[in-house]
Amino acid sequence: MKRIRITDLFTQKPIGEKVNVKGWVRTKRGNKQVAFIALNDGTTIKNIQIVVDLATADEEQMKLVTTGACLSVVGELVASQGGGQEIEIQCSEFEVYGTADPQTYPLQKKGHTMEYLREIAHLRPRTNTFGAVFRIRHNMAMAIHNFFHERGFFYFHTPLITASDCEGAGQMFQVTTMNLYDLKKDENGSIMYDNDFFGRQASLTVSGQLEAELAAMALGAVYTFGPTFRAENSNTPRHLAEFWMIEPEVAFNEIEDNMELAEDFIKYCVRWALDNCADDLQFLNDMFDKELLTRLRSVIDVEFKRLTYTEGISILEEAVANGKKFEFPIFWGADLAAEHERYLVEEYFKRPVILTDYPKEIKSFYMKQNDDGKTVRAMDILFPKIGEIIGGSQREENYEKLAQRANEMGVPEKDIWWYLDTRRFGTAPHSGFGLGFERLLLFVTGMSNIRDVIPFPRTPRNAEF
Ligand code: 4AD
Ligand code: MG
Repeated sequence: MKRIRITDLFTQKPIGEKVNVKGWVRTKRGNKQVAFIALNDGTTIKNIQIVVDLATADEEQMKLVTTGACLSVVGELVASQGGGQEIEIQCSEFEVYGTADPQTYPLQKKGHTMEYLREIAHLRPRTNTFGAVFRIRHNMAMAIHNFFHERGFFYFHTPLITASDCEGAGQMFQVTTMNLYDLKKDENGSIMYDNDFFGRQASLTVSGQLEAELAAMALGAVYTFGPTFRAENSNTPRHLAEFWMIEPEVAFNEIEDNMELAEDFIKYCVRWALDNCADDLQFLNDMFDKELLTRLRSVIDVEFKRLTYTEGISILEEAVANGKKFEFPIFWGADLAAEHERYLVEEYFKRPVILTDYPKEIKSFYMKQNDDGKTVRAMDILFPKIGEIIGGSQREENYEKLAQRANEMGVPEKDIWWYLDTRRFGTAPHSGFGLGFERLLLFVTGMSNIRDVIPFPRTPRNAEF
């Protein structure tokens, strides 16, 4: 007999038909005559109720039906007698594929803390919450590919192993096959990479942007979507050492076009979630965050507020003058902390904010320099509850200005000669940005810790699973 997925059972509702479902037991309850099993197969947040007549069921087999066990069930689909569910299966036979000892199975019925669930990340996809989060994660990935594909962007694959530091922030993980117990050094004490795998020092990439720019200068509009790595030792609810980033890069786009693309993009993703993940979002809204659905809808409806960094700083300084307390000092030239970003978004403008034209000192070497000599054509999108969700800019297309800025910021020309070549041969105005996939998921799911929107988080001192 062919198995039917539980999600299809709920949409097709073949009442009166004999069906076969397979899944994991969430709960079992009942009395001496009858047992009710809630079965879930991961295809939907909904469980199907299995009704077992204990007069005919094998008693020994029934003992094996405990929370976490895996079953195959055959029976007739009927309209449910009890409240709480529409349909249920009158079990005629079942097979236990795998037992789960109640003494040791870590996911019992009671609610577990998110911290505890992180310690059992290999099993947490079996909870309602993580089932919902990971289904939404998949749907967001589809939304992203659709958005760009519909607009004629090409999905471009950039390397994960690289010898250049895109952001110039020195937060890279080294990649080596050298024997760390027996490192060869030259007379100055420097490590000799000649005999290393790549014949030079190599690392995991912090961004695919530089290579995406090469592609944009040939294919017009491209995007990347892949893992990126940052060895920043920040143990916060918004940082991962391994995260996924989406980086569109578009020839001939100026900063205004870039902002428009970014705003359309995020709104498209949020709308996609509302349209395609209704059950899962409703669950998360009910269980974790009663404002979730309202917040998602509100972002689609409003125009993001655009202002310059300098204007943003004035607002923050004024807030401080009026008694607002921030943990970190704020002044022109300072990088905004999450608390400042959230003040602008949640308290002052009450909508997403696009902040532009940051001081060049706190931004990367590749950003287009403004005529004032102080600021660059950067844009960060700040979101409620998240802070920075997107970082991007118009790129410096002038060879001399770019080479000089790279030099000033300590990015060696020998590492990026190929990048500089785009400015020597057929350079053009162009722009792009990076969306942190997990930051988007934080927003869409309402989860409060970034460790809970990626299956197996990588953070300082943690690489289990
Ligand atoms: O602002 P960032 O560092 O920008 C870049 O990497 C550019 N190369 C992007 C571009 O213009 N193509 O990072 C972009 C986004 C941030 O806005 C944030 O959403 C996310 O990536 N991000 C992180 N997400 C999780 N953990 C971290 N450690 C992150 N660092 C950045
Ligand atoms: Mg940034």
